[in-house]
This record gives sequence, structure tokens and C-alpha cells, in this order.
Amino acid sequence: HKRVAILISGGGSNMVSLVDSMVGDHPARPCLVLSNDAEAGGLKKAAARGIPTAAVDHRPFKGDRAAFEAELLKPLEQAQPDIICLAGFMRVLTGDFVSRFQGRMLNIHPSLLPKFKGLNTHARAIEAGETEHGCSVHEVTAALDDGPILGQARIRIEAGDSAESLAAKVLIWEHKLYPAVLRRYANGDRTPVLLP
Ligand code: GAR
Repeated sequence: HKRVAILISGGGSNMVSLVDSMVGDHPARPCLVLSNDAEAGGLKKAAARGIPTAAVDHRPFKGDRAAFEAELLKPLEQAQPDIICLAGFMRVLTGDFVSRFQGRMLNIHPSLLPKFKGLNTHARAIEAGETEHGCSVHEVTAALDDGPILGQARIRIEAGDSAESLAAKVLIWEHKLYPAVLRRYANGDRTPVLLP
């Protein structure tokens, strides 16, 4: 099996969808769930599923990304992942860190990339008058929310939608898209997954 490390910062619902998909004939298995916050709700969910967990708090590093990443590397090097999935991991990684895992690190982003890189994607999609929205999984490169797109799920924005309602609708599709992309990717297939 391919070994998959999952990086999270919060509740970890995408991490759970990935972990729960890696069963049976799936070509990968989870080897580590790693967070920049020891209080992240997702760590307990991972531990309950029998997955090794680790946390490296970014705050003591006071913006020294290289020093933070040096600590983040320790549990990762121990876990020896073949693939790294960023799943609601809310720290920006340096080009140096990313280049170590070039071609084997994925991210899920709550917009139809290349639209709305960065934060507050749902509010910005409404503000821009978009009629469509969704989520993307892409390969991570040094540029933020950039890199080859490996899958997208599209939804319509309805008249009454708010940032909150859109976030909830998109999240449902994130939970379908990310496992579908990971399965393909772990099989060596980079053909984009297009949903629905
Ligand atoms: C997800 O919506 C994910 O796409 C987003 O954070 C949420 C995490 O939820 N990621 C980003 O905004 C990355 N910049 P989760 O912890 O329940 O998976």
C-alpha cells in the first residue's frame, strides 16, 4: 500500500472522508495525521480510527516558517509517506518544504480554482456574482493554491445562498471529491476527476 500522511488544522471532516475511503482494495492506507494545533478536533477522530497522530504548534515559531517546518518534518520523516494530503491545513508552506514533496502532495481548496485562491472563498464567490462555485483538489506547488488541478466538483449558487450555506453545500462535495482523487492518484492516474 501507498502510505498517506494527512495534514489538518481543524475539525478534520475531509481527513475523515479520506481515512474512511482507504479500505478494501484501495491502493493506499493512512500512516499519520499531523496538525499545527494540538487542540484540532480532527486529531481525536484520527486516534479513534487507530491512526498515529502528531501536532507541532506553529505559534512558538512566531512566523519563522523554516523553523516550524523543520519540526513538522520530524514526524513526517518518521512516517515515511508516499503521498501527503493537505486537508484543511491552514498554514502556508514554503517552497523549500513543498519541493521536498514535489509531485506527491495534494490540497483541497473550497473554490473552482483558479478562481478565489486564498481565504473567504464562499463570500467572495457571492460578492463576485458567480452562478457556479465548488471545490478543487490540486497538486501543491510553491505558489499558493496553484498547481495542476486533479479534480473539481461544481455546484450552482442559488438566489438565497449565503457564505455559510455555500460552505455547507461545497463541503458535502469535498467529501466526495477528495477520496475520488486520492484513489486515482494513488493508482498513478492524474486524469482530473470531474463531479457531479
Ligand atoms: C475545508 O472546507 C477545506 O476545503 C478548507 O478548510 C475546510 C476544512 O474543513 N481549506 C482551506 O480553506 C485551505 N485554504 P475540515 O477540517 O472539516 O476538513
